[in-house]
Amino acid sequence: MKNLSVNHLLGIKQLTEDDIQLIFETADSFKKIINRPIKKVPTLRDITIANLFFENSTRTRLSFELAEKRLSADVVNFSAASSSVKKGETLIDTVNNILAMKVDMVVMRHPNPGAHVFLSKHIDATIINAGDGTHEHPTQALLDSYSIREKLGDVTGKKVVIVGDIKHSRVALSNIYALQKQGAEVMVCGPATLIPKYIEKLGVKVEYNLKKALNWCDVANMLRIQLERQDIKYFPTQREYVLQYGLTKEILDNLDKEIVVMHPGPINRGVEITSDVADSKQSIILNQVENGVAVRMAVIYLLASKIKRY
Ligand code: CP
Repeated sequence: MKNLSVNHLLGIKQLTEDDIQLIFETADSFKKIINRPIKKVPTLRDITIANLFFENSTRTRLSFELAEKRLSADVVNFSAASSSVKKGETLIDTVNNILAMKVDMVVMRHPNPGAHVFLSKHIDATIINAGDGTHEHPTQALLDSYSIREKLGDVTGKKVVIVGDIKHSRVALSNIYALQKQGAEVMVCGPATLIPKYIEKLGVKVEYNLKKALNWCDVANMLRIQLERQDIKYFPTQREYVLQYGLTKEILDNLDKEIVVMHPGPINRGVEITSDVADSKQSIILNQVENGVAVRMAVIYLLASKIKRY
């Protein structure tokens, strides 16, 4: 059996191109399974997984939980808001107490960039990063690339523009790593204040004009403005942002070619994307969500196969 080169999924940066292809090939099998009347396999009956969410989530939390249950793992869920973290318990103590209950794998979302790398040095369990602050969201990038591959046949050679709040987006960084490892060309587009300085050093193109960016690309990944991570105002008003960077049906219909539209969610309809674009035939937003379960099953399965169980 082929194996991943890593024992944890801390970020896309640590994965090889072969790892990504192995995850996709494995996800292909799981996608067939979750579309059968009986969507479950007994593969991970002996594995217990804790989902630790120190930040809000709808898609990622439910997608991981469904992926784990479809693999027949035992699952426990932890939400920081209703936990003893509120009484001052540290991250390491919290996780070690959960692991003392014989948990094998930890899926964690945390607001601090690097929380997972820190934890991986202090605990004895497999860790999957479900989003660490503004740093990485590796399973989102994997499901995004998987969805491009499904829609366009391949990621290699495709031109992908990521539009919006690049500065505060973990989805952007993970997508840049994932797409480049697969040989795609990547552009970022948004207001200058929301594009990190020196981002060109990552090998991406930078464009401030949305229409030029859309005319260049095969795929546009529209990001939400992450107001919850912004300490100051990065553009004068939402109205001005929408006028310059909001994707409308009119803009889409006036392009020279038909492009694919993506969004990691949650969507702010009428801000980064209008409803008629989000619900158009060019949008693969709900395919991304569907594929998230199969891709997360693949990640969990491949990492679980590296745990010495017996
Ligand atoms: N895409 C994504 O991470 O969505 P959630 O915040 O709802 O998990």
